[in-house]
Amino acid sequence: MRIALVALSLAACSGGSKTPTKEDGGKVPTPDDAALVLPAPPPLPRVPDGLPKPQLPDTVTPEAVALGELLFWDPRLSIDNKTSCATCHDPARGFAGAKRQNTATGKPNLRRAPTLIGLAWHKDLGWDGRYGSLAEHLPAHVLGQMGADLTYVVTRIAQVPGYRAHFQRVSDATSDAAIHALGAFVLTRYSGDAPWDRVERSPDAPKDLVAGYQLFQTKAQCSVCHTPPLYTDHKYHRLGLITSPDEGRGRVDEAQKGAFKTPTLRDAAKRDGFFHDASALTLDAAIDWHLTGATGQGADPKIIDPAIKKLALTPVERKQLGDFVRALTDPRANASAKPTLP
Ligand code: HEC
Ligand code: HEC
Repeated sequence: MRIALVALSLAACSGGSKTPTKEDGGKVPTPDDAALVLPAPPPLPRVPDGLPKPQLPDTVTPEAVALGELLFWDPRLSIDNKTSCATCHDPARGFAGAKRQNTATGKPNLRRAPTLIGLAWHKDLGWDGRYGSLAEHLPAHVLGQMGADLTYVVTRIAQVPGYRAHFQRVSDATSDAAIHALGAFVLTRYSGDAPWDRVERSPDAPKDLVAGYQLFQTKAQCSVCHTPPLYTDHKYHRLGLITSPDEGRGRVDEAQKGAFKTPTLRDAAKRDGFFHDASALTLDAAIDWHLTGATGQGADPKIIDPAIKKLALTPVERKQLGDFVRALTDPRANASAKPTLP
C-alpha cells in the first residue's frame, strides 16, 4: 500500500519518474505527498437567474468550497465527534434544523437552526443578527454549538493526509483556511430555480399559482417582509412568539426586543420545523399563525408588527396562498449527499 501511494504521488508530481533526482534535492516523497495531488475542484455554484448578484469576498474560491463541503459534514469538528454542521443544518431539509437540537455539549438549544440558503445576501448573522461577519461568527458558533475550539480541531484535522493538501491550497494559516472554506461553502448555497421562478414571467403560468402570488403581494401582505426575489427583507419583526424566554433582536437593540430575522421562504417546504423556537410544526401552521394575527401565545397585539393582520381568506384563497409558498421550493437545489471524508 505504501509503495503504491508513493508511486501514485510521483507519477502525478514528477511526470512518472520514480527516482529522486538532484533537482528535487534527493528528497524521497512520503506517502502523505499523495494527498497533494487533488483533482481540480468543480467551478463555483452558479447564481440562479433572477437573483441579484451577491457580493462575495474573494476568499470564495472553488478550492475553498471543496474544502468547506468536507468540513461541513465532518463530525471531527465537534467535542463529541458526532455532531457536524450538517447535523443541525441538514441539506435534505433546506440546510435548516427541524427542532431545537441539543448542542454537542448536551445543552438544549434556545433556537432552531435557520436555513443557510441565500446567506450571501445577509448583512448580519443569527436570528438576532448579533454577528457582523462569518469570521466573527464561526469560532463562537463552533464553540457554542459543537463544544470545540475551532483552531484546535482544525489543526488536528489538517494533519489527516487527505485534508492537508486541501488546507494548503486554501490558505497558509490553517484556521483561516477553515473559516474561509466553511464560509465559501455556506455563502454559495443558492436556491432560485423553483417551480414559480420558471413560470413567473410566462403567459402560461397556472392561474391558481398567479392568484396565490397576487394574494401574497397584496391582500395578505406577505411580501412586505418576505420580499421577492429573495423572499426576505433581512430585517427584524415581532410575531408574538413570546413563550420562549428569548429577547431576540433585543440583544443588539433594546427597542427591538422580541423581534427575529425574517427567514427566506425559498426552500421552506423542505423544513420540518418553523419559527426561531420551532413552535410551528408544519409550513401551513406557520402561514396560519400570520393569518390569525399572531396572538396565539397571548402576546399583547400592540407589540406585534403592524404588517401582521388577522385575515380571513376563503378556503380557495388559502389553498392558493399555500401552494404559492410551496412553489418557492426547488426540490433539486443543493441536493448534495455526504461526501467521502478524508
Ligand atoms: C447543534 C446545532 C448546530 C450545529 C452543529 C451548527 N449550527 Fe449553525 N446554527 C444553529 C442555530 C441554533 C443557529 C441560530 C443561532 C442564533 O440565532 O443565535 C445557527 C446559525 C447559523 C448561521 C447563521 C445563519 C443566519 O441566518 O444568520 C450560520 C452561518 C451557521 N449557523 C453555520 C454553521 C456552520 C458552518 C456549522 C458547522 C461549523 C454550524 N452552523 C453548526 C445550530 C447549529
Ligand atoms: C411583518 C413582517 C412579516 C410579514 C408581513 C409576514 N411574515 Fe412570515 N415571518 C416573518 C418573521 C420575522 C418570521 C420569523 C419569526 C420568528 O421565527 O420569530 C416569519 C416566518 C415565516 C415562516 C416560517 C419560516 C421559517 O423557516 O421559520 C413562514 C412559512 C412565513 N413566515 C410565511 C409568511 C406568509 C405566507 C405571510 C403572508 C400571509 C407572511 N409570512 C407575512 C415576518 C413576516
